[in-house]
Amino acid sequence: VTRIQVRAYEPDDADGVAALCVELNCASLTDPHLVDRVFTAPGVSAAVAVAVHGNRVVGFAQAQGDGVLRSHLSVLAVSAAHRRRGLGRRLVRAVFTATGTQCMDVVTDSAGDFLRTLPHRAMSGYRVSPTTPR
Ligand SMILES: CC(C)(COP(=O)(O)OP(=O)(O)OC[C@H]1O[C@@H](n2cnc3c(N)ncnc32)[C@H](O)[C@@H]1OP(=O)(O)O)[C@@H](O)C(=O)NCCC(=O)NCCS
Repeated sequence: VTRIQVRAYEPDDADGVAALCVELNCASLTDPHLVDRVFTAPGVSAAVAVAVHGNRVVGFAQAQGDGVLRSHLSVLAVSAAHRRRGLGRRLVRAVFTATGTQCMDVVTDSAGDFLRTLPHRAMSGYRVSPTTPR
C-alpha cells in the first residue's frame, strides 16, 4: 500500500499538479506556471496529496478565505487510482483548517456525493462571469 502524505503546497509541486490536471481533463490548470500563481495568490490556502515514495502528486485542493468567517473551495481533485481512501476528505480538512475560517462554500456539479458526507448545509450556488463561464 502506498503511503500518501497531505501537506501544504510547495512551488516544486506545480508540475505534478498540472500533470494530474492533464490526467483528469481539468483544462484550466494544466499549465504549471498558472498552477503556481493560483496556488500561491494572496489569501489562498493550498494542499497537495503526495505519494511518499516516488513523490508523485495524487491529489490537490485550493481554497481562499478572509481569515475569519468565510472561505471558498475552488479546486479539489484526487487521481482516479487513489479515490475512496479518505484522501479527498484529508485534503478538504487540510485547506479548511489552513484558511482559519468558520465555514467554506463549494460550488460543484460533480462532487455532491462526496460533499454530502461532510458536515454541511446544502444551498444553491451560482458561478457568475462576464460571459458564459466554463
Ligand atoms: C470528489 C473527490 C475529490 C473525492 O475524493 P476521494 O479521495 O475519493 O474521497 P474520500 O475517499 O475522502 O471520500 C469520502 C466519502 O465520500 C463519499 N464519496 C466519495 N466519492 C464518492 C462517489 N464517487 N460516489 C459516492 N460517494 C462518494 C463516500 O461516502 C466516501 O467514503 P467511503 O469511501 O468510506 O464510502 C474525487 O472523486 C475527485 O477527484 N473527483 C473528480 C473531481 C474533479 O473532476 N475535479 C475537477 C478537477 S479541478
